[in-house]
Amino acid sequence: MSPVATRVGLIERYRERLPFADGDPVISLGEGSTPLVHAPALSERVGAEVWLKLEGLNPTGSFKDRGMTCAVSAAVREGAKAVICASTGNTSASAAAYAARAGIRCAVLVPDGKIATGKLAQALMHGARVIVLRGNFDEALKLVRELADRHPISLVNSVNRFRLEGQKTASFEIVEALGEERPLDALCIPVGNAGNITAYWKGFRELGVAPRMFGFQAAGAAPLVEGAPVAHPETVASAIRIGNPARWEEAMDAMTSSQGAVRAVTDAQILDAYRFLAAREGVFCEPASAASVAGLMVHGAGDAERVACVLTGHGLKDPSTALDQAGAVVPCEPELAAVEEAVLG
Ligand code: F0G
Repeated sequence: MSPVATRVGLIERYRERLPFADGDPVISLGEGSTPLVHAPALSERVGAEVWLKLEGLNPTGSFKDRGMTCAVSAAVREGAKAVICASTGNTSASAAAYAARAGIRCAVLVPDGKIATGKLAQALMHGARVIVLRGNFDEALKLVRELADRHPISLVNSVNRFRLEGQKTASFEIVEALGEERPLDALCIPVGNAGNITAYWKGFRELGVAPRMFGFQAAGAAPLVEGAPVAHPETVASAIRIGNPARWEEAMDAMTSSQGAVRAVTDAQILDAYRFLAAREGVFCEPASAASVAGLMVHGAGDAERVACVLTGHGLKDPSTALDQAGAVVPCEPELAAVEEAVLG
């Protein structure tokens, strides 16, 4: 029996819209084709028809895999023997996994103490060299850019154009899933380094559609909202703890030309949305992802009737924040009466 992939990767699915020819090397883990699920409780709460794009169901648990299959495949095509990135966690997990699969080396620079446990475990398990920088993401990105200029190492942050090419396919999937009769009016998406919103907008434009793009940043790390870099970004949503996004102009262009907006949400609002999604929709995303839903709940999405929120990463990435936010366990003796009391009491 010949091997059969049950889920084709996105290069294979969308090859005609991607810069890959037949016969090019493809490093894939079956990424993309993630569910778009209706969110009844959220829809009722905000008075619009809301859909959730579950990007946490990608192979390493975040949307980064869409970009990474393209970035690492292109790196292999160019003969690269190593990849590098700066990361708040998810990019490093994804780069490490795809590099492992490609049989090339991977180094990642992450900010000290500010990356979620699951992401760190992933990068280490996949055999990346994990460098913990006494500095923040913005400093790490500046350093890896310089390093990649000086050495033959392929930079796989979203400054790499192949990353955006891969990530734009999420727009294709949303448009395909919703059909042409009632297209999407608005997209709500968290913004950190601003690559993903840029990629979604590119994808929509390539299909000739233009939903309003609403980008949401954490209030303590909201340079696009403030119109100036933030020197010391702070937020519970560690994935978007970024003060000087690399794709600043392109992201602003996406929001202005689509008549959307960029707005801030506080950590308390992010955590409210995070708990709401888990408790009411059965969807466990990471805090940064919940910024899209927090933004929709707090600021709305204009007069949009049909809205999609991008849930960028899985909740299991960050067990510590989850345990901080969740209810307590119920200790119990191993006796029926005690269990009865514990269950029913
Ligand atoms: N949501 C999650 C879960 C992320 O990990 C990121 C970015 C974003 C949203 C924001 O996307 O940067 O394209 O605007 N994480 C990067 C990383 C920075 O290193 O994993 P963006």
